[in-house]
Amino acid sequence: MKKTSIAALTVLVTFFFIACGGSSSTADKPATGDTAATGTAPKSDDKAGVGKFKNVEIADQIDEGMVATGQKVFDVKCMACHKLTDEKLVGPGWKGVTSRRTPEWILNFATNTEEMLNKDATAMSLLEICLVKMPNQNLADEEARGVLEFMRKNDVAK
Ligand code: HEC
Repeated sequence: MKKTSIAALTVLVTFFFIACGGSSSTADKPATGDTAATGTAPKSDDKAGVGKFKNVEIADQIDEGMVATGQKVFDVKCMACHKLTDEKLVGPGWKGVTSRRTPEWILNFATNTEEMLNKDATAMSLLEICLVKMPNQNLADEEARGVLEFMRKNDVAK
């Protein structure tokens, strides 16, 4: 299990480093506020992010059913790049993510990744640090909601 996931991670990381290097010429933008890079939509720094989730109701109690769904998704689709601690892997560690971001932002990022990386100021600043574009993981809404619940549980766990 450990060996397989390390091997899978190596493959992934190698792939994304290549992909990242390969696409860097198009991603290159002037570091300053040079207006030559126009044609891009205005940045959004709405705390909800960009996407269809505008107003998500969150109960005080953790829903263990959703957590179980989220754990499965995490194991298969997220663990290769995200740790549950605050340590960065390919992407940021998830510890504290539910206090850094709103539930809407997390759901929009998880389901509308490309647009968030192009338009949302917070997502764009993460990309500057991580240098790798998180690929859209094609999550169904309830899978994304499960992951959010899984993150909430990770953040309350001591
Ligand atoms: C191939 C690597 C990779 C995979 C797989 C991946 N991510 Fe990411 N994730 C990233 C990177 C890199 C970032 C930082 C933004 C960027 O550079 O694209 C990120 C950022 C995030 C953030 C924002 C974290 C913060 O601190 O604000 C969330 C939320 C997130 N990912 C959720 C997910 C979910 C949910 C999955 C699984 C369904 C997943 N990611 C799978 C690479 C990945």
